[in-house]
Amino acid sequence: MILLLGATGYIGHAFQTELTRRGQRFVALSRSEVDYTKFQSLYDYLKSSRPDFIVNAAGYTGKPNVDACEAAKADTLQGNTLFPQVLAHACAALDIPFGHVSSGCIFAGAWIDYGNGWVVEKDMTKPEFVAIAKHSPEKIRGFDETMTPNFSFRDEPCSFYSGTKALGEEAIKDVGQNFIWRLRIPFDEFDNPRNYLSKIQRYAKVYNNFNSLSHRGDFVNACLDCWFQKVPFGTYNVTNPGYVSTADVSEMIKEILKPEREFEFWKSDAEFYTTGAVTARSNCIMDSSKLINVGIIIRPVIAALQTSLNNWKSE
Ligand SMILES: NC(=O)c1ccc[n+]([C@@H]2O[C@H](COP(=O)([O-])OP(=O)(O)OC[C@H]3O[C@@H](n4cnc5c(N)ncnc54)[C@H](OP(=O)(O)O)[C@@H]3O)[C@@H](O)[C@H]2O)c1
Repeated sequence: MILLLGATGYIGHAFQTELTRRGQRFVALSRSEVDYTKFQSLYDYLKSSRPDFIVNAAGYTGKPNVDACEAAKADTLQGNTLFPQVLAHACAALDIPFGHVSSGCIFAGAWIDYGNGWVVEKDMTKPEFVAIAKHSPEKIRGFDETMTPNFSFRDEPCSFYSGTKALGEEAIKDVGQNFIWRLRIPFDEFDNPRNYLSKIQRYAKVYNNFNSLSHRGDFVNACLDCWFQKVPFGTYNVTNPGYVSTADVSEMIKEILKPEREFEFWKSDAEFYTTGAVTARSNCIMDSSKLINVGIIIRPVIAALQTSLNNWKSE
């Protein structure tokens, strides 16, 4: 039996749908039934139910966006750092493997070769970076799983949310047997306030930058495949290969969905951070080749975006 934590949430719901589709026996446990965030109640529950594997899709995300975490720091720390640590230790004590949904937002920027070797560029809005990203993508690489987060409390600035996600990874990395699955900006074909494609369509002004993304269904499929295909435990960037700019995605929306409105963009980071945002945003390019090299199939980001828009289902 698989135990699913956080099934009432946006990502947890997709795990629930996919586990059901696969005909897997699972239990979706909510804090309203058992407060699984407390060590003793979680330990007692696990000792009696003995799941084969746990999917942790629980955590604290700010709503409508990461700025909300700056005003709820205790909940953010509890949900994204303290709780994963409690889970990891309870699982280790009972020898139960688990997978934890982390985030790519613990990184900022990308690796780039401007002509003098590979360097990390945190500012992907620089004209030199934009030109290379458009015309010489072979000169850009994402962060892989060997690299240390550079948008974290140990490498500031970062948002409070990102800091707690990075610390959550540190807290569980060497405790028992687990997967750390890094999700990045989820989207799919179902219109939803949490869907990146819906967000772009609803923003009064769009913030343009480069990012890797995760199709929600592809993400949960890849995570579950990690368990069922018995790939080695460890950290995996679970993003659709490649990267896109928000401007590129807006163009795809215009072409495929033909919305009546035009998209207006923030003119600069300065304008966005003065009036449109409270805390720093992570924008980053991820390298998902480790996942692919262990045999997990995940389609390129452009294909996933096109299919989502071609099958768009309004709320
Ligand atoms: N959505 C994104 O854009 C995104 C991107 C990257 C990573 N992630 C990560 O993916 C995981 C799931 O995110 P989500 O978007 O599905 O979140 P969500 O919709 O807010 O759902 C999270 C679920 O976690 C449970 N939970 C446990 N402790 C909690 C706490 N302290 N505060 C709030 N909820 C808590 C709740 O379920 P019960 O109360 O029913 O148990 C809740 O329904 C999180 O770890 C998040 O950091 C999300």
